[in-house]
Amino acid sequence: MQTLITDSPAEAAGFINRGEIVAFPTETVYGLGADITNESAVRMIFKAKGRPQDNPLIIHIHDPEQVSDIAETIPAAAQTLMTCFFPGPLTLVLKKKTGISSAVTAGLATVGIRCPENPVTRAFLRCCAHPVAAPSANISGKPSSTDWRTVYHDLHGKISCILKGKESSIGLESTIVDCSTDPPALLRAGAISLEQLRSALPDIMVASAPAHDEQPRSPGLKYLHYSPSAAVIVVDPEDIPEMPDSGSAYIGLTPPQGHFRKTCLCSDIETYAFRLFRFFRECDRDNIATIYCERPPQSGIGRAIRDRLKRAGGEH
Ligand code: TXA
Ligand code: MG
Repeated sequence: MQTLITDSPAEAAGFINRGEIVAFPTETVYGLGADITNESAVRMIFKAKGRPQDNPLIIHIHDPEQVSDIAETIPAAAQTLMTCFFPGPLTLVLKKKTGISSAVTAGLATVGIRCPENPVTRAFLRCCAHPVAAPSANISGKPSSTDWRTVYHDLHGKISCILKGKESSIGLESTIVDCSTDPPALLRAGAISLEQLRSALPDIMVASAPAHDEQPRSPGLKYLHYSPSAAVIVVDPEDIPEMPDSGSAYIGLTPPQGHFRKTCLCSDIETYAFRLFRFFRECDRDNIATIYCERPPQSGIGRAIRDRLKRAGGEH
């Protein structure tokens, strides 16, 4: 399959409307989309990514009004979060309408819905005839793609089109909040922090890690994820090695004492989030064996960075 690269949202949307799959930019990470009403297109996403069938997709909309076409009901808590954070890096899990294909929801009774803020994403979604189901645009298990070249590296020849936009400004996936339960629960940390969520909804819970034999509330959370080929080791500032092996790299906020083959020193926590997946990819390209990652504070987007580091294999 030929993969067309375009910077025209309308041209990219044309592929979606003809039942093909298209990668597109968002402010969090790039997505790989299909028309939610076209089951064979939705199935092509799973095939192109090598994604497990039981992992549901997020539905992307350009107008918050569309939530009522997809969700059975909109509880007051969801309405509050939509008012505060749509459009933006937030996904709400709600009870789905019966018409929503189980190919999208992997058979769940709920559905994830996100309204991105990036103007190119919104222009693209507006040109699509229906909402767009999309996971992140990477081979399953690899770090999400934050720029179109990484999408091309992972998926060229397997998808019809890449809508070329800027590098994703946040660099980590959306915050996911389950509003199908009362009180709502944070399922995946992201750029909308727990502190921000609680300022809008004080009783929000943090979904606890599932026990070994228990089904997690977000199916995707049971998979090893975001993993570079290199080993990921999470360290507190005082444990950053002073005599690292020659094949080692470092990313974090604290300047290291020792010499690493690659270093990504981040001036603040947002930059750490923005650079993390790109750095993982660069380390793989340069055959780095071990990436030392400074453990960030558990606040703001630091919670999301910690979560991704943990699931990239850094803490077992
Ligand atoms: O920022 C993002 O969320 C990006 C961009 C492209 O929008 N998308 C993204 O999709 O990260 P993906 O598929 O890589 O991660 C979606 C996560 C998965 O862990 C999936 O299990 C979970 O959302 N999810 C989707 N629908 C769900 C539902 N109904 N209930 C619980 N979890 C759900
Ligand atoms: Mg993903």
